[in-house]
Amino acid sequence: MTTQISIFNGPNLNLLGQRQPEIYGSESLQDVENNCKLLADSLGLQVDFRQSNYEGKLVDWIQEARGAYAGIIINPAAYSHTSIAILDALNTFDGPVVEVHISNIHKREEFRHHSFVSKRADAVIAGCGTDGYLMALQRMQKLLK
Ligand code: DQA
Repeated sequence: MTTQISIFNGPNLNLLGQRQPEIYGSESLQDVENNCKLLADSLGLQVDFRQSNYEGKLVDWIQEARGAYAGIIINPAAYSHTSIAILDALNTFDGPVVEVHISNIHKREEFRHHSFVSKRADAVIAGCGTDGYLMALQRMQKLLK
């Protein structure tokens, strides 16, 4: 049986490839999803890949993941720095959580240096571009063993 993983993406990541490409690169979110699904296949994982601009939607999805998915990979985008609601939701989830940031948030503005989600994340990947999602999948597979 394949193990089901959720990959959740927060606000503005729908514009990946068009939005500040000097920071976030030229790949679209669809490219990232395709690459994740290819790698997931070879790792024996099945990926449900989603994006929302709404904090409450992300909270709903995290709650729905309880009991349905083995692990959560999340790029909470700007909500990383503001959302106790997303942290609280992740704290209700029993499986591994891997946080991804495409950019190195620690090299950027000070308000990006703190992530509420990192309080819960088992691993944090930042500054590796969109490859960070693939690294997160590899880490997730090990965390699930
Ligand atoms: C981001 C970093 C956040 O600070 C920013 O608000 C984003 C994307 C990243 O992937 O580098 O939207 O999470």
